[in-house]
Amino acid sequence: NRTFAIIKPDAVKNNYVDKIYNHILDNGFEILSAKLIKMSKYQAEQFYIIHNDKPFYEELTSFMSSGRCMVLALKKENAVENWRKVIGSTNPNDAEEGTIRKLYANSLGENAVHGSDSNKNAVKEISFFFTESELI
Ligand code: CMP
Repeated sequence: NRTFAIIKPDAVKNNYVDKIYNHILDNGFEILSAKLIKMSKYQAEQFYIIHNDKPFYEELTSFMSSGRCMVLALKKENAVENWRKVIGSTNPNDAEEGTIRKLYANSLGENAVHGSDSNKNAVKEISFFFTESELI
């Protein structure tokens, strides 16, 4: 299975990319593709369109377009579920010890990483940033 991950602007800015890569590899994920990008505000709005009725939509899309982030397509058995375990709860205060968000996240809004919440969304999210031929 595949999942989609983002190393968010806070984690890139704080130089956590290599540490987060180690979590990815140590947990047995294969990186099918990765790239450093800076989302436009429009791109962030489209990516998070399912949240457009939420009070945090503006804050979320401004933050996600505020700096460089790394987008990744990951492969592993039960990739979606396994990646969500590795990253921990959305709110770092609730995240288990040893998870990426517990270790590297600042707050609910600036929470270091993203992970798809279902296989269907993983497919959608990967294709938002990658063409099939980029997944090696
Ligand atoms: P992510 O997994 O990228 O999916 C949606 C994001 O919205 C989530 O991580 C959080 O960073 C963000 N988010 C969720 N709830 C809130 C909130 N109450 N305030 C600010 N951001 C939020």
